[in-house]
Amino acid sequence: MIFRILEDQYAQKSQEAKATDLRFMQLALTLGRRGQGRTWPNPAVGAVIVKDGVIIGRGWTQPGGRPHAEPVALAQAGAAARGATLYVTLEPCSHFGKSPPCADAIVAAGIARVVAAIEDPNPEVAGQGHARLRAAGIRVDVGLCAEQAARDHTGHFRRVRDRRPHVVLKLAVSPDDKIAAVGHRPVAVTGEMVRSRVHLLRAQCDAVLVGMGTVLADDPELTCRLPGMAKRSPVRVVLDRALRISGNSKLVHSARTTPLWVMTSSLSEAPAAMALGAAGAQVLRVPTTTAPPPGLDLPAVLHSLSGKGITKLLVEGGSKVASSFLAAGLVDEVWLFRGVKDIGEGGVAALDALPLSAITGSPDFVQRASEAIENDTLTIYERS
Ligand SMILES: NC(=O)c1ccc[n+]([C@@H]2O[C@H](COP(=O)([O-])OP(=O)(O)OC[C@H]3O[C@@H](n4cnc5c(N)ncnc54)[C@H](OP(=O)(O)O)[C@@H]3O)[C@@H](O)[C@H]2O)c1
Ligand SMILES: [Zn+2]
Repeated sequence: MIFRILEDQYAQKSQEAKATDLRFMQLALTLGRRGQGRTWPNPAVGAVIVKDGVIIGRGWTQPGGRPHAEPVALAQAGAAARGATLYVTLEPCSHFGKSPPCADAIVAAGIARVVAAIEDPNPEVAGQGHARLRAAGIRVDVGLCAEQAARDHTGHFRRVRDRRPHVVLKLAVSPDDKIAAVGHRPVAVTGEMVRSRVHLLRAQCDAVLVGMGTVLADDPELTCRLPGMAKRSPVRVVLDRALRISGNSKLVHSARTTPLWVMTSSLSEAPAAMALGAAGAQVLRVPTTTAPPPGLDLPAVLHSLSGKGITKLLVEGGSKVASSFLAAGLVDEVWLFRGVKDIGEGGVAALDALPLSAITGSPDFVQRASEAIENDTLTIYERS
């Protein structure tokens, strides 16, 4: 609807003006993506300030969520911001949080026009940022690249509206739909390029989650180990009802450098929780489910993560955890990597209690993209 209003405005203006706006908004979106995975609990916003066709300020939300994108761009532009246009991927904030409202800073800087991709659904903003700008005489156009912005800010939207993070399920499966060999022996299902792609995906998410079965079978680190990106590792989350995770595991060993949150039931032993705390991990207690399969209550897990500020969660398995999330209807997006070599009889099925067609053949999911990665393939599905 908002988009249509903006389209009507463009119909009366030259296509050149629209192309110019699009170019700068695309740049703002690209800048905003630089912060993905590092700005939680805040959204990763991008901003560009343009005067007479020249970019005079660029900004994106800084790690930890502050400063916001707009003051970074305004500081770069300085006094030249007076009379300029600001392109921003999300409505500027209007409330006093840990920093003063960006809307006030924009007014004070003398910006003449704001082009915002989308309104912020956060009830503390929800149109009031735009209203504040308009009240100060600034022209505000909303809706350019709204679809892309909604996708980029999907974690923020999900957290604000549903009190849970956006959930991305990653699976690396063989052509015969297996994820590990007989006896849970780990095998390289896909090649090196997929490994790099998964590490990049980790960097773009706020947290990565696995079940205790994967910790026991693989002793994973779950960090981003791309060159120069060690600091981009997400929070690591383990579902561990009885606190079986070993103090010698790679996850616990690295808990002081990269956060480790162990989610457990209220019944698990206090000394084990204290030992994990002493090793630098955080123990979070959530209810368990009574219905099979036995496990931690996933809506409660997600609610707890959202409460701590997580907006985008990557679920990396294994097969029980993946099928529990799917069965609970809590998967928003699936990244399905497919290798080329069968694992064969006795291997671990990709999904414990479901066929893979619960994703690939389900009306609940639509294919969004597909690409070859060396010999392997990546198909991305999203909830329809
Ligand atoms: N190729 C891939 O993409 C990939 C990725 C990851 C793992 N893997 C493979 O997957 C295998 C492990 O899979 P898995 O199925 O044995 O274990 P898993 O799914 O990693 O973990 C399952 C365990 O998590 C705990 N859990 C707590 N709450 C749960 C809930 N609501 N739903 C499900 N589990 C919950 C339970 O242990 P507690 O009762 O102790 O809490 C449960 O037994 C390994 O062989 C690993 O190599 C493959
Ligand atoms: Zn702000």
